[in-house]
Amino acid sequence: MSNYKNTETALIHGGISIDERTGAVNVPIYQTSTYKQDGLGKMRGYEYSRTGNPTREALEALIRDLEGGYAGFAFGSGMAALTAVLSLLHSGDRILISSNVYGGTFRLLSKVFDHFGFTYTIADTEHPDVYESQITADVKAVIIESPANPLMTVTNIKAVAEVSHRHGLLVIVDNTFMTPYLQKPLELGADIVVHSATKYLGGHSDVVSGLAVVNSKELAEKIAFIQNSTGGVLGPFDSFLLIRGIKTLAVRMDRHVENAKAVANFFSKHKAVKNIYYPGLKSDKGYETNQKQAKNGGAMISFELHENYDINTFFESLELVSLAESLGGVESLVCHPATMTHASIPADIRKKVGITDGLIRLSVGIENVEDIIADIEQAIAKSERK
Ligand SMILES: Cc1ncc(COP(=O)(O)O)c(C=O)c1O
Repeated sequence: MSNYKNTETALIHGGISIDERTGAVNVPIYQTSTYKQDGLGKMRGYEYSRTGNPTREALEALIRDLEGGYAGFAFGSGMAALTAVLSLLHSGDRILISSNVYGGTFRLLSKVFDHFGFTYTIADTEHPDVYESQITADVKAVIIESPANPLMTVTNIKAVAEVSHRHGLLVIVDNTFMTPYLQKPLELGADIVVHSATKYLGGHSDVVSGLAVVNSKELAEKIAFIQNSTGGVLGPFDSFLLIRGIKTLAVRMDRHVENAKAVANFFSKHKAVKNIYYPGLKSDKGYETNQKQAKNGGAMISFELHENYDINTFFESLELVSLAESLGGVESLVCHPATMTHASIPADIRKKVGITDGLIRLSVGIENVEDIIADIEQAIAKSERK
């Protein structure tokens, strides 16, 4: 376990940060699938890289330290991490999910795990009392995203974890939007944290990866078994890229958030903007709860333009900000949740949870904020219907 209680230091020195053999200040990329054994049953700690690889192990120890858990696990994508964690459940079990979660999580539950007789219910995790009434005898776990994707709905993680534990549920938090620099769900009572590390942790839009951290030996043994059995592990080179990205998380995140606050202020004063969803704004309904459990509101903003603005023209007029899936990289990205990240959620459910066809999600990058705002401003101006 890392001795560094300050996250900024643990990001750089947590886990296994030095190569013991050579003193190299970066853990080497152990690009090997297998390991020579000195005799039958005489291994030097590793036998096969699906089961264990030193570069991946360094990353797994790092995320364990950052989230303050018992053990960390690295996967080939966020979805692979979620798949491994959800494999803890059994046929006949039900899982509750926050009302707006990443579309891929919804698709995994509704189109894959559903085949195995393990099902889901969309729950109101925003209101712990209503949430409690949705816990039926077959419910065994809950997945919370806070802020949730894409409406930035905030869930009081501590309150929902308390209610859930009273009913014996496993509490899983997808911490992709916040990262352990801004929010530590295990300290708030979660049992498992998952990440699409493709996003802020990697930080440079150059690696697809997922991480999971568990809070007990028992869960660690189960996930280690599932990880090795199902095999969705992260390769050594991608593990190295992720360790490298994580080192600068604090400085990147500080700039992401500073820029996001400026962009949110710009939106809140702009006549074209009908609604803005950003828990970093005092006027946001999730602001207070988010402030209690996280360092700040993060850098993801969703918004809607008034009807007299054409969103296609808006997207096509952007020059600096790219229209693309994903988020959390150094570059600013926008997406249209209804047809992109959340397209796998049926239209009627999207409508019910408030993901409108006019909703735009912005991942605020670390460029000069005046350049970001100028680009958005000119695209809004061009998109006004005359
Ligand atoms: C909140 C959240 N969770 C999970 C995922 C899935 O991660 P990946 O794309 O790395 O498989 C994403 C991807 O966008 C996400 O935004």
